[in-house]
Amino acid sequence: MSPYITVIGTGYLGATHAACMAELGFRVLGVDVDQQKLAKLAAGELPFYEPELAELVARHVASGRLSFTDSYEHAAEVGDVHFLCVGTPQQPNTDGADLSYLNAAADRLAPGLQRPCLVVGKSTVPVGTADALTRRIQAAAPAGTGVEVAWNPEFLREGYAVADTLAPDRLVFGVQSPGGERALRDVYASLLAEGTPVVTTDVRTAELIKASANSFLATKISFINAIAELCEAAGADVVKLAEALRYDPRIGDRFLSPGVGFGGGCLPKDIRALLARANELGVGSALRFLDDADRTNLRARRRVVDLARQECGGSFAGRRVGVLGAAFKPNSDDIRDSPALAVAAAIQAAGAEIAVYDPQANDNARKHFPTMDIALSAVDAARGAHVLLHLTEWPEFAGADPAEFAAVAAERRIVDGRNTLDPARWQAAGWRFRAPGRPQLDALNPEEVNP
Ligand code: UDX
Repeated sequence: MSPYITVIGTGYLGATHAACMAELGFRVLGVDVDQQKLAKLAAGELPFYEPELAELVARHVASGRLSFTDSYEHAAEVGDVHFLCVGTPQQPNTDGADLSYLNAAADRLAPGLQRPCLVVGKSTVPVGTADALTRRIQAAAPAGTGVEVAWNPEFLREGYAVADTLAPDRLVFGVQSPGGERALRDVYASLLAEGTPVVTTDVRTAELIKASANSFLATKISFINAIAELCEAAGADVVKLAEALRYDPRIGDRFLSPGVGFGGGCLPKDIRALLARANELGVGSALRFLDDADRTNLRARRRVVDLARQECGGSFAGRRVGVLGAAFKPNSDDIRDSPALAVAAAIQAAGAEIAVYDPQANDNARKHFPTMDIALSAVDAARGAHVLLHLTEWPEFAGADPAEFAAVAAERRIVDGRNTLDPARWQAAGWRFRAPGRPQLDALNPEEVNP
């Protein structure tokens, strides 16, 4: 008989995993402590924006395959495989990961376990967490319950969560016994049959695979942003440079877009947590470059603030700045550690009035940044602005008509913090165009360079 699956934690990761497991044909129980979130999900609605996911949740709630509860006892009673999908945010005062949600979930689940089952961690955690969790769960579970812990990290990207879960690049099974591997192979049988590569290993390696993947991606972005600084100093163009690098398959064509840098609930905290753990294990010096990647990333935000200040004539006092984008990336309403809002907040603190517009994240921005004007359209954000900043690369912004913005802005000055707008279109509508890592683009005009 196919296993009954529980998914503990129903945020971006858990809600996606639960709905996708139902899509694969399993009975799934989503577990959370947040009543409001549960009520929405049980009604087939999403408490956040994620393309394709709302339809999937609604479909499987209706089919009866997917249900939700706040009862850990019930989950422990019915589940054969329990996926732990709770958050592991950065601790408030250190760089390490906060494992309190994970430990709390294990503590509530373990005493009710009544039969052999597999507890599978999916969250990004410091290496060694699965070992500690195994001891914790086995100590709290009733004597004789055959419970095993495995680690099966998740690589989904927000904005593409459903596609990434149903058609992953690879699966990683960190297991402690052949039985653990068999149980994971059962769960993912249909994806394995489609040829999804799988790496089976021990739990520690599985934990480190996830932390390394995110740290590599973060380092790649910071690499191109460091080169962007060099380009700016040398009068070179990082966009052309990155275009040429991408043709080399050894470098790869993704995660090489220069701009305001990375944010979100994963990459920034994951590089810090990996370095913190490496320090604990006495090998921090080998990973010191992660500290540089982090600093370069934060500097990328400051450099966009500096460009905006220059465009405001050296001071933000009494200036109005329009900000296109609030989410940490397009196709998401997530504003956790969003570079767009970090830049907007820094400019506001320096004396400017801010108007922000995002196609999906306006509500979240309003909740967390109540002193900023939240505009109802992109053009509204530009109204009366002395400078316009493009900080989240929604397709709607690349497709917008610069003339419409010119008609309402106080001055035609734009900083493209994502390097995805077409300078020629904006310049043709009379805009002065600046972007990190590129020469001042007015100077690219051959008539100005060689009059
Ligand atoms: C990341 C990992 O990609 C994913 O595998 C993991 O499971 C969770 O963490 P996510 O946080 O959803 O996913 O976003 P991602 O698409 O990785 O983007 C992260 C940040 O990097 C965004 O702020 C994005 O704008 C920025 N970025 C990305 C760049 O600045 N330049 C790039 O070239 C690519």
